[in-house]
Amino acid sequence: MAPLIIDGTIVSAAVEVRTVERVAALAARGVTPGLAVVLVGDDPASRSYVNMKEKDCARIGIRSFDYRLGAQTGQDELDVLMRRLNADPDVHGILVQQPFPAHLDVEHVVAAVSPEKDVDGFHPENLGRLMRGLPGHRACTPWGVMRMLDHYGIDPRGKRAVVVGRSLLVGKPMGLMLLERDATVTWCHSRTADLAAVCREADILVAAIGRPRMIGPEHVKEGAVVIDVGINRTDEGMVGDVDFTAVAPKVCAITPVPGGVGPMTRAMLMSNTVDSAERTA
Ligand code: GUN
Repeated sequence: MAPLIIDGTIVSAAVEVRTVERVAALAARGVTPGLAVVLVGDDPASRSYVNMKEKDCARIGIRSFDYRLGAQTGQDELDVLMRRLNADPDVHGILVQQPFPAHLDVEHVVAAVSPEKDVDGFHPENLGRLMRGLPGHRACTPWGVMRMLDHYGIDPRGKRAVVVGRSLLVGKPMGLMLLERDATVTWCHSRTADLAAVCREADILVAAIGRPRMIGPEHVKEGAVVIDVGINRTDEGMVGDVDFTAVAPKVCAITPVPGGVGPMTRAMLMSNTVDSAERTA
């Protein structure tokens, strides 16, 4: 039987409908949510993501504050901007697009954003809150994956979940969010022995590695749910971490690339920004 295609375009649109309603409710109270979007350098992929985020803001009714800084921007200069944005009552969310140029210290930049405005969920306080099971901003990509599972009635409780990848942006928070929902979680990474055998134990397999089509049918149990977080630009266009054509016939549900997890990240960013505006309103 053909698998269920988990459609991020549909789920992100559902999230957006709700976000627009919440923006209208805030407008009735005289509040317009604001998101500061900071890009350091001119990485073309980052530039395109940032442009899309600003378009999302315009469509939804979130004010965006655009900061495009030169690749040579120093730590001090960025600190000054962060202090200003942290103190600005019109700014409810701050996003500094990653990856940063090599001379900037990721830990320093991430910690310079006030946790209340850290709509990326990357600040140590927000990651700590996730670890402790407390409310706080949640990283947009894994938070979007959880939203997709919920939309399709896929309950992680009691399931074996395997997350391939241990990045702070996706893999680590993804596993914690699945754990929070009572999955039995395993993280895999580049040093995992017999990756395919571990992945084959998964009822829910999340691929967040950044290697084109690395996950094949040998990694997948019959009837599993497969979530592909990969966005790899190749000569053949954008491809995921999962070999979709080879894996799809084996599984019960799968996300495509594009049109799977991709649109969810931005939808959750908008939602997190409105959360932040609601908290301060
Ligand atoms: N780079 C890739 N994904 C993200 C994200 O969710 N937020 C930021 N700030 N940078 C990213």
